[in-house]
Amino acid sequence: MAKNPVNVLILAAGLGTRMKSDQAKVLHKLGSRPLIAHVLRTAARLDPDRILVVVGHQSEQVMAAARAALDEEMGSRLRFIHQAEQRGTGHAVKCAADELRATSGDLLVFYGDTPIVRSETLSRLVDQHSSSGNAATLITIRLDNPPAYGRIIRDQSGRFLKIVEQRDCTPEQAAITEINPGFYCFNIAALLPALDQLSPQNAQGEYYLTDVPEHMLTAGLPVGTLLHDDPHELEGINNRTELAAMWRRLRHETLQQLMLDGVTIIDPESTYIDDGVEIGRDTIIHPQVIIEGESRLGSHCEIHSWSHLINVEIGDHCHILNGSVITNSRLAGHNSVGPFAHLRMNAELMEEAIVGNFVEVKKSSIGRKTKAMHLSYLGDATVGERVNIGAATVTCNYDGKQKHPTIIEDDVKIGSDTMLVAPVRVGKGAMTGAGSVVIEDIPPDSLAVGVPAKVKKRTVG
Ligand code: UD1
Ligand code: CA
Repeated sequence: MAKNPVNVLILAAGLGTRMKSDQAKVLHKLGSRPLIAHVLRTAARLDPDRILVVVGHQSEQVMAAARAALDEEMGSRLRFIHQAEQRGTGHAVKCAADELRATSGDLLVFYGDTPIVRSETLSRLVDQHSSSGNAATLITIRLDNPPAYGRIIRDQSGRFLKIVEQRDCTPEQAAITEINPGFYCFNIAALLPALDQLSPQNAQGEYYLTDVPEHMLTAGLPVGTLLHDDPHELEGINNRTELAAMWRRLRHETLQQLMLDGVTIIDPESTYIDDGVEIGRDTIIHPQVIIEGESRLGSHCEIHSWSHLINVEIGDHCHILNGSVITNSRLAGHNSVGPFAHLRMNAELMEEAIVGNFVEVKKSSIGRKTKAMHLSYLGDATVGERVNIGAATVTCNYDGKQKHPTIIEDDVKIGSDTMLVAPVRVGKGAMTGAGSVVIEDIPPDSLAVGVPAKVKKRTVG
């Protein structure tokens, strides 16, 4: 790791005209996360002192997306710099000058539209920079027929001279295949005076950050380069075809790694799994499954087609049958869910609980070995162990104004088509008859039937 404290500056103020969008470019999603979230999560792995983000277009939304991407501790190191008018990448960095004056050490600068850069690559840049004593160190890559990238100009002995933007290139310069992917490490004390020297005398009338190294060399300060051999990793996204191509590449890498780690993915072409999702050995993923967000799945699970899992924690030996949607929920292990079940808002299934066809579970916990097999809604409910929920049971949790809880204790049998009008409690070992409308608590070991349900007799056992 670098000896100097590392600070990170990410430029994310532009609209991204070529996206042809009302939404700022860094808010577009790669997988389930906006571009800004990808770069921030990668930057956070360097354990920087501070992460500065230059915002402009849709700054409120970009700031919210940035905050959501980091945990609380890392979020406390986040600062936003406002660039009201986008006058170029050099101008964007200059907007952070006040913040930087109060900071010492090195500054890693890159752009918010390069979402698959690896933290190892950023670390290598920072390490080389801090051990070299350079005023600036920048990554270069080689690309045949490079599109709109800045060209790296060297003298006859190969020494770095300057970066020339494609639009400012002579035909000779435009033919150069060593280019600037936009990753820089600066000594902050050397950066500040160089920013003051920038001028917009160029084809785009902008203050270019890419002119900074040349100004440093003129001032007699050393500038170094680091040739990186995987140009795709450092690609920026400029339009939606590039976004789709990058998602394809990232997805491919994620699936490849999961398979090498022991997960069976029957049809990688149709399987969408976010980077960072963890899946245990011998779990089988069927075609057309989507798994997103902060999700962890155990071993020996089977996830059947058309299921969509978002922010889930799933233990070992779970079966998710076709067409189930599970969001922000937890399965302890040995559970079966679906086909066509919907679990959401902190639904929690204890070991061996089963939720079957067309059952919705919202903000409820379902105890060990409890079964709700068919056509039911369980919302704001706490259900005990070994309970059987008959087909078409509904917790009527909403009175039009407020949500109310339902408590079903251990070993209860809820008859088919029971309406549980919350708040209500069904005592341990009780039973309801088919079609009952339960509006009052049912004592333990009793039977309630009818509309409204009346307690009839004790159950046996
Ligand atoms: C830039 C580099 C170019 C490099 C390329 C790599 C400059 C002048 N050129 O060109 O050498 O090859 O990236 O992708 O830096 N931004 C702001 N404020 C601004 C302008 C831009 O925050 O005033 C942000 C944008 O939101 C974007 C990033 O900076 O995330 C890069 O800007 P962009 O206009 O895409 O630069 P390029 O023309 O691609
Ligand atoms: Ca760009």
